[in-house]
Amino acid sequence: MKKFHFQTPTGIHDVLPEDQEYFRKFLSVAREIVEFYGFKEMEVPILEEAALYEKGTGETTDIVEKQMYTLRTKGGDVLALRPEFTPGIVRAYIQNGMMNLPQPVKLYTQGPLFRYEHPQAGRYRQFHQFDIEVFGETSSAIDAQVIQLFTLILKELKFTHLIVEVNSIGDSSCRPYYKKLLSSFFRSRANSLCQDCKRRLKENPLRILDCKEEKCQQVKSQAPQTIDHLCEECKRHFKSVLEFLDEADIPYHLDPYLVRGLDYYTKTVFEIFSEKPVKKIEEDPSQGETEVVTRSALAGGGRYDTLGKILGGKDIPAMGAAIGIERIVALMKANAANLPKEKPGPQVFLAQLGELPKKKSLKLLEELRQANVQVAESLGRDSLRVQLARADKLGVAYTLILGQKEALEGTIVLRAMDTGKQDIVKMDKVVEETKKRLRKKS
Ligand code: HAM
Repeated sequence: MKKFHFQTPTGIHDVLPEDQEYFRKFLSVAREIVEFYGFKEMEVPILEEAALYEKGTGETTDIVEKQMYTLRTKGGDVLALRPEFTPGIVRAYIQNGMMNLPQPVKLYTQGPLFRYEHPQAGRYRQFHQFDIEVFGETSSAIDAQVIQLFTLILKELKFTHLIVEVNSIGDSSCRPYYKKLLSSFFRSRANSLCQDCKRRLKENPLRILDCKEEKCQQVKSQAPQTIDHLCEECKRHFKSVLEFLDEADIPYHLDPYLVRGLDYYTKTVFEIFSEKPVKKIEEDPSQGETEVVTRSALAGGGRYDTLGKILGGKDIPAMGAAIGIERIVALMKANAANLPKEKPGPQVFLAQLGELPKKKSLKLLEELRQANVQVAESLGRDSLRVQLARADKLGVAYTLILGQKEALEGTIVLRAMDTGKQDIVKMDKVVEETKKRLRKKS
């Protein structure tokens, strides 16, 4: 026999039923909160023109330079698997004339994204995000509200040790000067930068601030800071965002080097980290356990008032953010308090014996479902012994047994699993009778 050898591609995972429970719990919490605040759900395609991300996400970003899954269709179109939601949602806003709706337009979406990354814990090539975007509003209140919504979702999931980092990266009137300052700062230290950053120095010095290489981090720690070089309007906007956060009791850190790895941001940028202490067991058992602090970005976002224009429309004030669902699920699993409540198991088992009973079973199962009775079955099994053993294992209160004789007579056997007592019930009364007995039991 040939050996089965197919595996998911590197960095890509199945989401198994036990993980789906966590996904669903997260999504129900997130949906409930954002819908309360007036967000409407939408979907954008998984495949878009690659140029949408080249222009939107930015040609000098790691996502476009290194991580996009790009393909040529048989018709010759160059498409990409979406590496993020934001450019697709801006395209949809413009294409569908949403600027003609009452503003702000508040949208949310969720689903899989694709980035050809170096896979590691919490970093995958296919992953899921929950994303919110607000269009048509320049007020700093919206920046603070987007940050607030994500902290509310995380709090509702009982996450602690959360850190919100914020910064302002200015706009087209102050950023060009800041970029010049940054270029001349890094140029004089180019020898201490990694190969990628030497290239970034020519293309976009802001990207050097994102570099995770130790030696670049050291150089960065002396670099000029955006907030010292903001124009009056950006300064006023940022100050007001911080005041809103203070007023909403949202603790934050100011990270003067937070620029985020995407090109479209203007003014406010933020990230939310979990700094949950994780117990590390020392190799030498006499050392016991030590607490180490792990840090991973759960969410990130910011304002992007010019992306509409970059994509060929006009400037649209916009603010948004996304949460990485796999990272949330990993934290939910690490935190026992977040276990989703187990769904109640089936209360009834339907056993059948023979061809006619099997055929009648499909209709009866649907009648039970419509009556809200949780029912299990083993339609593929014929032996009563096997089916009763399964009913026993599931711990149901009653088993309905439909044999050839009952099917012909229009009856069914109702067996109480605790006493083994069996009654014959008319088929057209069985749903009602089962419900009555279940009610008595509860
Ligand atoms: P991002 O920072 O690239 O932002 O991604 C947001 C979140 O997605 C991250 O904080 C992380 O939790 C998760 N994430 C990113 N890459 C991976 C990966 N390879 N594996 C697992 N999780 C990952 C954006 O995507 C922006 N579009 C957010 C935004 C919306 N800005 C404005 N509107």
